[in-house]
Amino acid sequence: MANLTVTARRGAPEETAADTRVVGLFEGETPADPLLRRLVDLGEAKPGLKKVALAHENAPGGGERRVLVAGLGKREQFDAERARVAAAAAAARAKDLGAVSLSWAVPAGDGVAGALVEGTLLRLYRFDRFKSERPEEGEEGIESLEVAGDDVDADEVEYARVLAAAANAARELQNLPSNVATPTFLAERAAEIAEQHESLEVELLDRDAIAARGMGAFIAVARGTDADPRLIVLRHRPAGARGPHLGFVGKAVTFDTGGISIKPSAKMHEMKFDMSGGAAVIEAVGAVAELGLPATITAVVPATENMPSGRATKPGDIVTAMNRKTIEVNNTDAEGRLILADALCYAIEQGVERIVDLATLTGAIVVALGHTYAGVFSNDDEWCTQVESAGAATGEIGWRMPLHPEFLELTKGEYADLTNAAEQRVASSSYAAEFLRQFVDDRPWVHMDIAGTAWGLARNYTGKGASGFGTRTLIELARRASA
Ligand code: BES
Ligand code: MN
Ligand code: ZN
Repeated sequence: MANLTVTARRGAPEETAADTRVVGLFEGETPADPLLRRLVDLGEAKPGLKKVALAHENAPGGGERRVLVAGLGKREQFDAERARVAAAAAAARAKDLGAVSLSWAVPAGDGVAGALVEGTLLRLYRFDRFKSERPEEGEEGIESLEVAGDDVDADEVEYARVLAAAANAARELQNLPSNVATPTFLAERAAEIAEQHESLEVELLDRDAIAARGMGAFIAVARGTDADPRLIVLRHRPAGARGPHLGFVGKAVTFDTGGISIKPSAKMHEMKFDMSGGAAVIEAVGAVAELGLPATITAVVPATENMPSGRATKPGDIVTAMNRKTIEVNNTDAEGRLILADALCYAIEQGVERIVDLATLTGAIVVALGHTYAGVFSNDDEWCTQVESAGAATGEIGWRMPLHPEFLELTKGEYADLTNAAEQRVASSSYAAEFLRQFVDDRPWVHMDIAGTAWGLARNYTGKGASGFGTRTLIELARRASA
């Protein structure tokens, strides 16, 4: 799976050398191929999305091969997202059947070839490195994917491959437990990516360097842990750069116990995913470099654990962020906004002109939008539209949520400029967004609260686990912003 090869082939799909070919079936349409038509007549092949039927035919070089008939729904409703869903269903079936090479006959539609690649690669990802029983050599499942048709665009296919691989890499970081994916582990991953690309540079700040930069809010969260925190900075400075200087900021709490305001133990293990925003940012920037996109990007990922201890920040403690604003830490479990406050300040200092932050920030956004939409907050309608449409193109959809002066009012502290958590538990996700807004210096900024979508996304191509949400959106955004 890790190195599944992906190719685009122009020409007749049925001329493939693959052991399993996939053809789509639209509602109310009859395939020209007699074998497939028979399958439809028998009622075995169904046009409903996610339906997959199996037949066998003679292979051109002798022997037999499989044909999967994948339902695509109504032609007029078919789009890239439905192609991802259909591809995932076919990939799962092909894998079950022991297929090694897969070939899709690409149906017509904008972005469909790329989407088939994404749906397949995302579906075939598995986190099994800690399972003792791993597949034997030669039983490793699907090794190649071909998308074939008269006008398949090889660049689109390669672009989709890189996007899906980056999302899967982010999922791997998400899935790794907190005893492996520590702040220094994430920093090393960022350094490894930077090493691979001339256009990338990495800067890593340790505890002392973070403190020396005046990041008192970040340091406050890192006080309780013995794991050394890192501010991870990746700079993409390509030759021939175009477009605005983008700032990508991602929350990377490698484990969120809540600190002294400790969380209940039920489901606490899920808090290893609290670094999902940072994972998406790091892997997205790597993909941008791999694709050679001419976007200027500064990525800032504050990485730390949030732990209780004798040194930990206590409720009521007052700290000073990099922009000199003072914050009363009334709830140590509202740690994401603290580390992001300083990360946003740092990004501003680097001269970023458009900002997107990704963060598993609030439980309330899961209540409001489930695992379907990310919460989107912004101080700039135009920039927000750009981010939302890049998200929609990748199937990573967001729903705009409000900011309001009354929410801003709630963030005022009793003894300091701000408090990180209000007495009243109202509009928590908007409160958090208003808090962050005070660190972006009025630059166009979009905050995506991915607490619900980072895992447990209801799409069949990512399953219920880590989704890599936001990785593909950021890459697509960088592509559009530098086009
Ligand atoms: N990482 C959590 C948010 C979270 C909760 C993500 C559940 C996924 C599922 C965040 O740090 C947090 O604890 N937020 C608190 C803030 C509150 C104390 C003001 C929340 O949302 O409950
Ligand atoms: Mn928390
Ligand atoms: Zn958290």
